[in-house]
Amino acid sequence: MLVKFLLHITLWLNIVIGSSSGEPFNDASFEKYTKQSLLWAPYRSNCYFGLRPRNVDATPLIAGIMWFDNSRTDGITKFRHFVDQGDRMTKYGWEMYDPRLGGKEVIIDDENNLNLTIYFTKSHDGDNWAFRVHGEPLDFTRSTTASIILYLNQNGDPKESRLMKASSEGDSDFLQFDGLSKELGEYQISIWDNLGELFNDRDLRNMEVAPGCDASKTAHVSLTVPDGSVWKAKDIFQTLMADSVKAILEEKKADVHTSLIPSIFTIRNYYQFPAGNFHYVQKTFDNSDPKGFEFDVVYNKLESQERINTPQQVSSLIASTLDEVTARFNRHFHFKSQNNGHRQFAIETLSNLLGGIGYFHGNQLVDRTTELDEDTFKEVQLTHPVEEGPYSLFTSVPSRAAFPRGFYWDEGFHLLQIMDYDFDLAVEICSSWFELIEDSGWVAREVILGNEARSKVPDRFAVQNPNIANPPTLLLAFSEMLGRAIEQENQDSLNRFGENTEDSLTPQTNQLELNSDLLINYAKKIYPKLLKHYNWFRESQRSSLDDYLDVLEEEGILNEIHLNETYRWRGRTVTHCLPSGMDDYPRVQPPDESELDVDALAWVGVMTRSMRQIAHILGLEEDEAFYQKIESNIVENLDTLHWSEDAGCYCDITVGGEWDDERTFACHHGYISLLPFALKLMPQGSPKLDRLISLMSDPKEMFSDYGLTSLSKSDLFFGKGENYWRGPIWMNINYLVLDALKYYYPDVVATSPKKSTEARSLYQALKKNLINTVFDNWEKSGYCYEQYSPENGKGQGIEHFTGWTALVVNIMGRD
Ligand SMILES: *[C@@H]1O[C@H](CO)[C@@H](O)[C@H](O)[C@H]1NC(C)=O
Ligand SMILES: *[C@@H]1O[C@H](CO)[C@@H](O)[C@H](O)[C@H]1NC(C)=O
Repeated sequence: MLVKFLLHITLWLNIVIGSSSGEPFNDASFEKYTKQSLLWAPYRSNCYFGLRPRNVDATPLIAGIMWFDNSRTDGITKFRHFVDQGDRMTKYGWEMYDPRLGGKEVIIDDENNLNLTIYFTKSHDGDNWAFRVHGEPLDFTRSTTASIILYLNQNGDPKESRLMKASSEGDSDFLQFDGLSKELGEYQISIWDNLGELFNDRDLRNMEVAPGCDASKTAHVSLTVPDGSVWKAKDIFQTLMADSVKAILEEKKADVHTSLIPSIFTIRNYYQFPAGNFHYVQKTFDNSDPKGFEFDVVYNKLESQERINTPQQVSSLIASTLDEVTARFNRHFHFKSQNNGHRQFAIETLSNLLGGIGYFHGNQLVDRTTELDEDTFKEVQLTHPVEEGPYSLFTSVPSRAAFPRGFYWDEGFHLLQIMDYDFDLAVEICSSWFELIEDSGWVAREVILGNEARSKVPDRFAVQNPNIANPPTLLLAFSEMLGRAIEQENQDSLNRFGENTEDSLTPQTNQLELNSDLLINYAKKIYPKLLKHYNWFRESQRSSLDDYLDVLEEEGILNEIHLNETYRWRGRTVTHCLPSGMDDYPRVQPPDESELDVDALAWVGVMTRSMRQIAHILGLEEDEAFYQKIESNIVENLDTLHWSEDAGCYCDITVGGEWDDERTFACHHGYISLLPFALKLMPQGSPKLDRLISLMSDPKEMFSDYGLTSLSKSDLFFGKGENYWRGPIWMNINYLVLDALKYYYPDVVATSPKKSTEARSLYQALKKNLINTVFDNWEKSGYCYEQYSPENGKGQGIEHFTGWTALVVNIMGRD
């Protein structure tokens, strides 16, 4: 079957794709395209705009944009660099974006009276790039300046890697730099002014307030900054400026003309630092012209065949980039909705998820000595951190402002979204995570590489501990990917592929999905690593059934239990279970070494299924049978151990009760009690399904007009305490539920169903409610949120949370 399929596929690829691109896809062409198209992008997603190349670790070129209004003395307090919710932007983010192509980011910064658009585009071979900064005043009568600072640094040993201004004197509006990176080769960076006037008061004879401080000219300062401090570009700028301003004010005893304030706040080489590889370029635009201002920053490899030579070329590259992003989006998502706002919302939300993709490189803090407290279950301080690394990670982030780093629990959900748009990109990100699996099999819950990433992390979360797990959502995503490849494999009609592809897949970005040969190679490579991860998870989170043996014997079900398949999260405290991902969701009280966590078991089920699929794809029959057995043991344990007939759902259990010798259910209706359903671990047609459908459909329990609540409204803990996972609506689990409803009740999406069922009503209502909730909030505020209120659907928690909340795009654009 497999062989025949591959033959077909290869043949077909040769015909359909090979004819257009001139060569059939194979390992080499896949790798080449991946490497080239993903080399350059704004991978410092923690910045409003920050560039660095991917997989270039020793000598990357680092760039960023900062800005402030330097026409007032307190302008520096509203200085922008890292994305920060405290900046109170009316709006910011990508309206359209794809890391392979480029896009358009819009920033509405009311406090600085600035409407900023940044376009990013690349040459077709991916070697060269340009970004265009276009700004307009929001209100041209407000008399402000727009002082934009570009910084650049060529990292690496200065003997081997350098970045110098090309002509030291002359026309400062056409700045050019010559660079050399050991890894990237020789290159040039040009800055072209397209539009707008630098600030100038023509009534004054001279705008220069001190030597080098002249807002009517482009300022350039070059110095040496150690590679590890380049991310502090803002702090360094502000320190240099503060010293310069102080000196000016000491000298000018008399009042300074207000028109000279922008000059005072212009960077100069006050300490006469020798030139180095770090550069600031500051342009202070007069922000009173409604037409605004615009300049291009263009990078060309010296030997490149596809140089970007003129602003007109930048314009046409931008136009084709935006066209291509739109075309790819339309190919992958189908909008039946007449609501044009929905399309706009969806493309923007997907773009912001993709815009959160970053490339991180640096050391990780790990504490391997501190033991967890399993007696009193108090929070343990991880006070013995050791720097390990360096490591690299290519990942999307839950939120550019609040969480600009890798999150294991979130990432699988991001991938479920991304794979619908760009299958290969999703695999590429997944594989970057799998690379982090260490020999013991452990992967950190949060991957925080280097000081730049660490600067955004509260101390108590900065250190990772190798006993702590997290829901293995990456395997959920990987399992989904493999499932699709297997599905393709089982279709041997050429026709279907043809239709499918032309219709809804992009040949370049779905190579792995279309050519399972490639995916097999890939699966082969990572199988040993995944196996370690799998074993680590099962060993480290295993819970013993010893305390239950008598109880189960008495209940008469001991023979039906699979003793090896029971788990509990390590590292929970009395109040929190951070490893579970649902921090304050009520769990067994008091915590106990003998508690069994239903979600931990369910997640091992997902991992096992994924391992079985890989074994299948690789044709490892014995392994496949082995995982098959474990998977069915887990499915049975979920039902025999964790199902409470009284509660009508799955529950955590413990040994306790009045006589201390009962199997006691800790049931709290909510996301955790549905997880075996949401993760499709229940047998098809299970009689238990009805009970769960009722639970989800009941407005007194989990159903709300805005989505399923994380905890039932009837639960004692609903809305109590921190109220993080005790009622608020989260997109990730709602998405899984919709997906599971389709799996268990295929009728829910049929246009003419056989009969109207409770499951169908639930599916339809839930889908509509989720879309409306996220969309309405976006329409009102311009943002997606971390979670939504179960009372009124209002977005709450972190703003501009376009991580898993972006799954709403899949919900909208697919049946
Ligand atoms: C920002 O500028 C763009 C481009 O000129 C314009 O289309 C948009 O309406 C402006 N937005 C606001 C809020 O002024
Ligand atoms: C349970 O685990 C033990 C120890 O890892 C192993 O020796 C045994 O074969 C397992 N039993 C089953 C039924 O898989």
